[in-house]
Amino acid sequence: MVEIINPQIEKYIRGLAPDRPEYMLEMERYAEENYVSIIPPEVAQLLTTLIHLSQAKEILEIGTAIAYSTIWLAWAVEPRDGHITTIEINEQRAETAATNIRQAGLEDKITLLKGHAVDIVPYLKKNYDFIFIDAAKGQYGWFFEELYPRLKHGGLLVSDNVLAEGKVVVPEENLRHRQKTAVRRLRDYLRMVTSHPGLETTIIPLGDGLAVSLKKTIDK
Ligand SMILES: C[S@@+](CC[C@H](N)C(=O)[O-])C[C@H]1O[C@@H](n2cnc3c(N)ncnc32)[C@H](O)[C@@H]1O
Repeated sequence: MVEIINPQIEKYIRGLAPDRPEYMLEMERYAEENYVSIIPPEVAQLLTTLIHLSQAKEILEIGTAIAYSTIWLAWAVEPRDGHITTIEINEQRAETAATNIRQAGLEDKITLLKGHAVDIVPYLKKNYDFIFIDAAKGQYGWFFEELYPRLKHGGLLVSDNVLAEGKVVVPEENLRHRQKTAVRRLRDYLRMVTSHPGLETTIIPLGDGLAVSLKKTIDK
């Protein structure tokens, strides 16, 4: 497989990640032991910086898992008394997320919704300053249709896992059938967000790859 980032460099950067409470370290261990894919702390730090820079207050997250990233997002909006809405399709993970959010004392800062993002987003009443997509990679294009109108002008859309552990550059004949479809859809998604007239997008090879898209202030 193709490495997105040199493993030694990755380890070094991770070693410089900010200190975090014991319950976050416990969540990191739980995720590793239970094969739950969560953002690494260096990606959490990038999201925090982007949120502070953009002064985001209202955040929508697609793909809560156990609420590890959600807690980072909630900390980042704390100075502006912001709010996170997060959606998780998996019942058991949503239960674990609710417990972790309670443990972090963030119940009043986070609204956790259970279900399929595409079914839920049309019923949300708010528009958002910052949207973080971290769910099924093959569905990013589908999510985008629903999410783009919900992103405020000047807001940021951050899509995670867009380099799919490097599979985006692996020739199709070397991928398994299911991977082929997901990777093809991801490549289409990246082409779309990098050429969309309403967005300015940068792809960052950190973690599993992030696409950071700024919604321009004037729609074209
Ligand atoms: C990579 S994990 C999210 C990790 C989390 N954001 C973190 O970094 O701590 C992806 C999650 O998205 C959820 N998911 C997948 N498809 C979804 C959908 N259509 N709607 C809502 N959640 C979805 C999965 O159940 C999984 O828990």
